[in-house]
Amino acid sequence: MNDTFKGQLGSYRILKTEDNSETVYSEFFDEACHNLSGAYAETVHNYIRGCSIPDCFARNRNFSVLDVGFGVGVGLKALLDELENHPEFTHHLSYYSIELDEELFLWSAHATLPELKFIRKTESDLIYFECVTDKTILKVFIGDGRTTLPLARALGHLLPLDAIFQDPFSPKKNPALWTVEWFTFLKDSSQPTVQLSTYSSSISIRKSLRESGWTIINARGFALKKTMTKANLLGETAPELIDQLNRSPSKAILDMDIS
Ligand SMILES: C[S@@+](CC[C@H](N)C(=O)[O-])C[C@H]1O[C@@H](n2cnc3c(N)ncnc32)[C@H](O)[C@@H]1O
Repeated sequence: MNDTFKGQLGSYRILKTEDNSETVYSEFFDEACHNLSGAYAETVHNYIRGCSIPDCFARNRNFSVLDVGFGVGVGLKALLDELENHPEFTHHLSYYSIELDEELFLWSAHATLPELKFIRKTESDLIYFECVTDKTILKVFIGDGRTTLPLARALGHLLPLDAIFQDPFSPKKNPALWTVEWFTFLKDSSQPTVQLSTYSSSISIRKSLRESGWTIINARGFALKKTMTKANLLGETAPELIDQLNRSPSKAILDMDIS
């Protein structure tokens, strides 16, 4: 299928990926939301396995996940599929996401998760979509996550995070969600045992993570990507990884670097 639709941030081209799942190419960011080798398979590799979600469900306690960028909703779909595979998880899952483009959210929710009934809500300056089921509460905050997520936290919407799917567009196309300040906010919003995972292995984003207090781990990437990055707040970064970062002239990304 090769089709397009208009969102608030320009048009989106719908692309079929190699595992038959769909993604979109954003005209505004000039990038596709997923690896064309397989949107669903990539999501399972990078985030479901990357954040050890099956182990978290096996531990069987209330659990909260932040998906950085709702996009096509594949992260949420893969997470709910994993939940279904773990009927022994009798606790509660809180899922949070952010999305700049409300029209994209509406298109994606309908295309990827038609069974879910999201209700649009506003509170103070916060606009969000909410869907409550017996085991889950799902909230997608609309607008720039650098503003909406701190507001959501201040209004009591955000439980401390257990897992973070760090999946905005690339640091080159969307540096604002890869800064030291962003990762500091994520750290301050998390449980000490949080697991963050991202497809990117750029030196700059690894420096941003380290400068905001995260421990980083080099991991095998999806398909042809050799490496990706996992991060946590316990543990220690391997000395050889620190040496590699120190040898590179690339710098961490700061809010003040962003135009
Ligand atoms: C790579 S896509 C996410 C894919 C998604 N995780 C999925 O599985 O379908 C990145 C998404 O982040 C959104 N985004 C980018 N910058 C943002 C920001 N500052 N605040 C909120 N959403 C943002 C984009 O509009 C896009 O939909």
